[in-house]
Amino acid sequence: MGTNQLLLKVEGISKKFPGVQALSMVSLEANVGEVHAIAGENGAGKSTLIKILTGAHQPDSGTIFFDGHMLKDLTPRKAMQIGIACIYQELNLIPHLNVMENIFLGREIRRVESLGILNRAEMRTKATALLAELGLSIDPAARIGSLGVGQQQMVEICRAVWSNAKLIIMDEPTSSLSEKEAEDLFRIVAQVKARGVTVLFISHRLDEIKNNCDRITILRDGHSVAMVDVVDTSVDDIIKLMVGRDIKNKYPKIRARHQDVVLSVEGLNRKGILHDISFSLRAGEVLGFAGLVGSGRTETARAVTGADPIDSGRIMVFGKEVKIRSPKDSIDAGIAFLTEDRKEQGLILIQSVAFNSTMVKMEQYAKYGVLNLGAVRTATRKLARELQLKMAGIDMPVGKLSGGNQQKVVIAKWLLSKARIFIFDEPTRGIDVGAKVEVYKLINDLVEDGAGVIIICSEMDEVMGMADRILVMHEGRITAEFDQNEATQEKIMYAASDIQKAS
Ligand SMILES: Nc1ncnc2c1ncn2[C@@H]1O[C@H](COP(=O)(O)OP(=O)(O)OP(=O)(O)O)[C@@H](O)[C@H]1O
Ligand SMILES: [Mg+2]
Repeated sequence: MGTNQLLLKVEGISKKFPGVQALSMVSLEANVGEVHAIAGENGAGKSTLIKILTGAHQPDSGTIFFDGHMLKDLTPRKAMQIGIACIYQELNLIPHLNVMENIFLGREIRRVESLGILNRAEMRTKATALLAELGLSIDPAARIGSLGVGQQQMVEICRAVWSNAKLIIMDEPTSSLSEKEAEDLFRIVAQVKARGVTVLFISHRLDEIKNNCDRITILRDGHSVAMVDVVDTSVDDIIKLMVGRDIKNKYPKIRARHQDVVLSVEGLNRKGILHDISFSLRAGEVLGFAGLVGSGRTETARAVTGADPIDSGRIMVFGKEVKIRSPKDSIDAGIAFLTEDRKEQGLILIQSVAFNSTMVKMEQYAKYGVLNLGAVRTATRKLARELQLKMAGIDMPVGKLSGGNQQKVVIAKWLLSKARIFIFDEPTRGIDVGAKVEVYKLINDLVEDGAGVIIICSEMDEVMGMADRILVMHEGRITAEFDQNEATQEKIMYAASDIQKAS
């Protein structure tokens, strides 16, 4: 539970953006050595609160009391100096430097303080010791760019520990990690906590909060509505506090009538990455791809949709072989691919919600080359309502939406594209519990309407709850196939891991 010694106390914080009151009179407190969660729906104000604590935004009113001092006019530099570190989702490491250089960046050890010469030997020794203390098997000489996201996060934590941070803030650190990597992260969080560091933790995976945090502050619509002890609170209680109601059916799966095969893939190969991938998808079916991060699920989707080249294999859409050499060919063939990384591949951040939602199929909203803006706006508004998109208006630039709401725009974009085959890579990443159900309902609407849907999910519950059929991948191959009624967590885990090779 940490100690009872107060480290952070935030009172009456308000922050208004044009058109949105992001925070109203928010309070939050955390003790020395406590892991404190902040939970709330998309757009509730979690990231805004964090940005105020790191000096990235100025509050309109309110006070922050930290480590015995009242903080005034906080800037990112000042926050760092007094011991507030933040691990953002977009990591802040320098990819071409190595692990050691990144840990010491800006706080290098020099041979003689006044001369600029670095003491690399000592830094190497210290980095090795620190990594070992935290139980990490990462080579200090490895280039950051060569590590996976999970390990890069660990390096960021090391960096924060090295800078003597008293408070480490993590904004959705696990959303792009597999369950195994997330476990590693929590092991490190426990180590850091044991050193008396306080952690503020944001996640939409409520079971993670339940298993790893001491207390939770819940934000709803910019207000702090509750602070509870985790031991006295169930996941359902958390949901109720977040959304103000119960969510009875988290996976509202329907069984649509399965019809003809809409997509079939035969013997797809990409040297060293994909080996002999074959599967088919029917209209009215949800096909799930399970497996660990890096098992080849995203690569399969990228190969099918022309984002990556293939060495051999055939792709048939509605029974006819198609040559897909670019994402455009795939859109033309009626295949929509919702990518896992919205910032890199999904959205144009400075453009409006309406533009982003309709950009894949602009021509659908145009006649004689003139865009029917009225139709664009009506379609966007309708979908925004269904997805409970929280925004000041459909002309708002997408970059100013909260993370989860950006993800909803990516989904909206593809739903409006009128494709018949959908591939959703981690469709609910960063989306709150209530809005997840809306996404699942939209998937239901698609299959009822005769579309075929592929979902790639790292969350086991989700794939088991929503897919009619599940394919499991491991090291670039399909290793098992299950019907929804025969799939179990154990069977999927087994097929997704190395165990089968060993036995
Ligand atoms: N720079 C900005 N300009 C305008 N509005 C903003 C800006 N930053 C955030 N907002 C708005 O403030 C509200 C709170 O956003 P915030 O990012 O804090 O939500 P969040 O709780 O982190 O949500 P999520 O779970 O989706 O990440 C949202 O309505 C968002 O659109
Ligand atoms: Mg956020």
